[in-house]
Amino acid sequence: MCGIFGYVGPRSPIAVCLAGLKHLEYRGYDSSGIAGIQSGELLWCKASGKIRSLEEALEKKLLNVELAIAHTRWATHGQPSQENAHPHFDDQNQIAVVHNGIIENHQFLRNMLKKEGISFYSETDSEVIAKLIGHFYKGDLLDATQKALTLMRGFWGLAVIHKDHPGTIIAAARENPIVIGMNAQRMEGFVSSDVHALNERDLDVMFLRNDEVAVISQGKVEVFDQTSSIIQKQSEKLDLEEERASKGDYPHYMLKEISEQPETIQRAFHNRLIANFGTAEFENLTLSSADLLSVKRIIILACGTSYHAGLIAASLLEDKARIPTVAEIASEFRYKNPIISEDTLVIAISQSGETLDTIAAVREVKSKGAKVLGICNVRHSTLTREADSTLFLRAGPEISVCSTKAFTSQLTVLALFALLMARLRHMSKEEGQTFLEELEKLPALIHLILAQKEKIALLAQKYAHFENFFFLGRHYMFPASLEGALKLKEISYINAQGYPAGEMKHGPNALIDSSLVVIGMCGNERTMDKMLSNLMEVKARQGRVIALAPENTENLTEIADDILFLPKVCDELASIPYSIVCQLFAYYVAVQRGTDIDQPRNLAKSVTVE
Ligand code: F6R
Repeated sequence: MCGIFGYVGPRSPIAVCLAGLKHLEYRGYDSSGIAGIQSGELLWCKASGKIRSLEEALEKKLLNVELAIAHTRWATHGQPSQENAHPHFDDQNQIAVVHNGIIENHQFLRNMLKKEGISFYSETDSEVIAKLIGHFYKGDLLDATQKALTLMRGFWGLAVIHKDHPGTIIAAARENPIVIGMNAQRMEGFVSSDVHALNERDLDVMFLRNDEVAVISQGKVEVFDQTSSIIQKQSEKLDLEEERASKGDYPHYMLKEISEQPETIQRAFHNRLIANFGTAEFENLTLSSADLLSVKRIIILACGTSYHAGLIAASLLEDKARIPTVAEIASEFRYKNPIISEDTLVIAISQSGETLDTIAAVREVKSKGAKVLGICNVRHSTLTREADSTLFLRAGPEISVCSTKAFTSQLTVLALFALLMARLRHMSKEEGQTFLEELEKLPALIHLILAQKEKIALLAQKYAHFENFFFLGRHYMFPASLEGALKLKEISYINAQGYPAGEMKHGPNALIDSSLVVIGMCGNERTMDKMLSNLMEVKARQGRVIALAPENTENLTEIADDILFLPKVCDELASIPYSIVCQLFAYYVAVQRGTDIDQPRNLAKSVTVE
């Protein structure tokens, strides 16, 4: 995914920006670029491929600029190439822009500017922003940027510089993160799309909200709203560890962590994909290929949300790697006197690594000689010490009691592990590559889902007063519906059940009347027809139906009271985006019902009692 980094201050802007870009590498990218101002001239350099190529190109150009903005690009509009790489420039080559996001009306704006005689060199939507700002520029860069923003539709995090303003970076945000870092004493200003890239001591940071624009200069920042009125924004100290555990500008940790998922998923697969061989690798997996090949049976142990991730992984491991796999609720499993043979692998999933039921079950299987692979978020936790090997989620601290980003990171890591196991067995390289391509699309798709959050909030407003919900799904969507229901009940205290859609006619249909809301999770193509018939049965009994379905699904309007269309995703991975919709729905219902989202009743983040 794209990343932005900018710096104004006494140190070498090129060196600081390159270091910043390196912290953004985990997001994935295919090209990079940098622009700065030196003696009233705009200088730039771009390169395809790795940041190393940009560094090499820069050495040759010996840039010695007074400030700089830099970018890593992950192609959306236009091929990965030097031309399409950011920064982009206005018609006079005076303005440089780096941009994350999508400008939905770029074609309209492009045509409008072409009529004014402005020509384009790239296929990107981002070039339109530079051209538009250039078009409006009459000596005031903030004013020109604001004017351009009012014409743009879509979402963005961006940074802008102009050759006649060598001490100023302008930054703006809508639905894309922009964080500004400041050190007044050292006379330094930073801008980035990712707080993790601000790897500096003694920084005051602030996060831009939608439609805010910041003017960043040495050790100073001013923030303006859409009407160019100045806003007094509170900054906070960036203590790297603590900051990661701060809410930033979000009202609740839950919403912050839901919104982080494009980045956390990207981090979960960063450096773990081997595209050439269509497989995966893990930096600290101590089980050898021979160990993994000897596995004939897998038992997954977990609780709550992590158990739901385990159910999805069990289907995936059977489906793709053809290894018989069961997911077990840890608190039940430990009383089962399980059969553990030499060729059984146990996977224990726990965000915290401290859930006592899971740890107790791990101890039980270890006492029977099992090898245990941990899937965990928290380093140095009990699970990581007791498991034979651990795969980390890299999701950053999850503070919200409702697990959100950890769940989708668990699914990502487990999908990669299933791929590795499948490739060691029957799966072809080509199938593996197709699976990886689908996985790599997820962060961009999740951005599109997050951009629908207002629609989801409206749905939540409409249905928040109902007291009974069923989440229905089939195949991979069944565990996703269990997770959707868990989120709703734990955060808004509503009676919500996840159920396999096909089972409704074996009893639960008796509960359906106009007071029941059914969320139909139609994310699996293979079971779509059956799923639609099940929803029809709900409709026939006057149940209220909200359908979540891929774009262009036909025949839904007669069945559903409300429909939320989502981008198309393969069946195996659809539980990731569909669960994020459920997370947002649960969050906004809780907001409507006024529950204490950061401290829901009777719940703790880490359950260390049996
Ligand atoms: C639900 C939730 C819990 C946890 C469960 C296991 O939102 O957070 O259901 O998933 O307590 O916790 P970990 O994964 O830390 O073992």
